[in-house]
Order: sequence, then structure tokens, then C-alpha cells
Amino acid sequence: MLGKTDSNATWFIVAALGLFFIGGLLTTVAPPLLDKSWNTAFVNHDPSKGMTGELKPYTEQENRGYAIYIREGCKYCHTQQVRTLEADTVRSGWKGVKAPVSTPDEFVNDWRQTFGTKRTGPDLARVGGKYNKQWHKAHFNNPRDLVPGSIMPPFPWIANNPQELDDLVAYLQTRGRAKDWRPDGDYEK
Ligand code: HEC
Repeated sequence: MLGKTDSNATWFIVAALGLFFIGGLLTTVAPPLLDKSWNTAFVNHDPSKGMTGELKPYTEQENRGYAIYIREGCKYCHTQQVRTLEADTVRSGWKGVKAPVSTPDEFVNDWRQTFGTKRTGPDLARVGGKYNKQWHKAHFNNPRDLVPGSIMPPFPWIANNPQELDDLVAYLQTRGRAKDWRPDGDYEK
């Protein structure tokens, strides 16, 4: 039957659409049916935890920071998805505690995807609370002052614009917030 797809355009289109449909089912419909935790993640957060451990919409400030992240193209070098790979959870981990793997609920408030594909820099999905604002300011001003040999470009127009710096850092501090995973509540502001 598949031989017909070589000589018959209709068969080719039907076969291509069929395969595409199967791929769609396997990657979007099947996973939440097979792994129920995908659904419970939405209801299992604890609102009493305040700033962390809570899935909530961005504040206006965080939203402005999100827009700056998109404008500056940070996603061309940084991903925001901790995959199920051991190397990912260790790389984004903190004080020997492995970072939790990304789950769909973490992205429901996003209006532009920032998953990224290229891991030129480290994944930022768990960077919230890792550094304080002073660190980010110095890092945006000139990454090499803090990380010798860094190939991240300087963003002095952000470092020297108090409003934009506050907004972008506020956004970065939300990365991983819905997981509240850092040991000892160790969150830098
Ligand atoms: C040309 C690629 C590139 C671009 C564009 C880029 N970065 Fe980076 N970034 C890197 C690299 C490489 C590192 C690792 C070295 C370092 O820390 O400077 C890094 C590190 C970081 C870190 C520290 C991560 C950690 O866990 O230590 C943060 C935060 C960060 N970048 C934020 C940003 C933001 C926000 C933007 C957009 C305004 C941005 N980066 C744009 C390449 C890039």
C-alpha cells in the first residue's frame, strides 16, 4: 500500500496527514492520559506559601520583565525547560538538591513561548532566587566581571535603567517559583 505514495499524490497526502495525526496524538493527547500528574499539578499548589510554591499570574512588573526578555532575544541562548535528563536536574540544582523537572502547569500564564532550543547559556527555568538583584545588575552590565570568559553579551542599557532592571529581575525571580524547591527556602531577592 505504501508503494502507492510514490506514484499517487492523493495517497501521499493521505499518508502524510495520517502520520502527522498519529504524531500529534502521541505527543499531545497521550501523555496527560498516561501520566495523571500532569493534571494534578494544577490543583496541588499551596496558596498559603505566599511568594513561592504558588502558580499565579504575573504581576504587571513581572509581565514587563517578560516582555524585555522577549525583546532582547534571551531565548536564543537560554532555554527554560528542565528535561527529564539527570544532567538537566543536576545542572539546575542547588546545594546538592536536584531541580524539579518542568511541568505543563508552569507555562499556563505565558503568552509567548520561551522554551528556547539552543543551550548556549544555562537553562533559566530554575534561576529564580539563585542570585540577587545586585548580581544581575553587575552581570547584565558585563558578564565577564562575574564569570571570566563568559560569552554572554553585556546588556548595559538594562543594567543602567533602574526600571527595566527591576522588571527583568522580577521576571527572572519567578522562574521555578511554582515549584518552591530550593532547600531551606534559600531565595535571593
Ligand atoms: C549570546 C548568548 C546569550 C544571550 C543572548 C544571553 N545570554 Fe545569558 N548567558 C549566556 C552564557 C554563555 C551564560 C553562562 C556564563 C555567564 O554566567 O555569564 C549566561 C548566563 C546567564 C545567567 C546566569 C545563569 C546561571 O544559572 O548562572 C542569567 C541569569 C542570564 N544569562 C540571563 C540572560 C538574560 C536575561 C538575557 C537577555 C537579556 C541573556 N541572558 C542573554 C549566554 C547568553
